[in-house]
Amino acid sequence: MITIHDKKFEVYITESEIEFAIEKITQKLFDDFQDETPVFIGVLNGSFRFVAQVIKNYNNNCTISFVKVASYHGTENAAIENLIGLNEDIKDKHVIILEDIVDTGNTVEYLKAELKKQEPKSVKIATLFFKPDVFKKDIKIDYVGIRIQDKFIVGYGLDYDGLGRNLNDVYALSENN
Ligand code: IMP
Ligand code: MG
Repeated sequence: MITIHDKKFEVYITESEIEFAIEKITQKLFDDFQDETPVFIGVLNGSFRFVAQVIKNYNNNCTISFVKVASYHGTENAAIENLIGLNEDIKDKHVIILEDIVDTGNTVEYLKAELKKQEPKSVKIATLFFKPDVFKKDIKIDYVGIRIQDKFIVGYGLDYDGLGRNLNDVYALSENN
């Protein structure tokens, strides 16, 4: 058990389980994009570690970029999203979004739509973690590392209010808080 800010967390998924799941995703990506030079687009901040681990095992031509989806509240209190950091030309390229976690799916839905405006050849979504019980969207999540219950998790790049990204295992919010 560890404490982050005011909350207790317990180990939920170990680093070796995570890295095994990433190896499987990477193998599928390798098989699917063998004859191409795909563009991997990591979504900051949470995906940095996932991206590093994919790239470590991806022994073929590829390029790597990072973007951020900044979200703020407009006057109607609806979330307004804004894509920053994409300075690579993705027209006619195969793009793979690398996300740390897909929860409601709002972020990847927005991101996919924004990227499509630049006319890439294809856009696929790969996520390390996926919460199927929370996901509400009508888009395909093409590559999933680990499906998890509807729990709040930290570690392996994911944070709780800024802390916990450096943890090697993934921790879930404890029932004893
Ligand atoms: P979505 O837009 O609801 O799919 O949420 C995606 C974003 O919310 C992720 O990229 C994370 O930054 C954050 N997020 C969702 N669930 C968790 C979690 O359990 N722990 C930490 N961050 C999360
Ligand atoms: Mg994220």
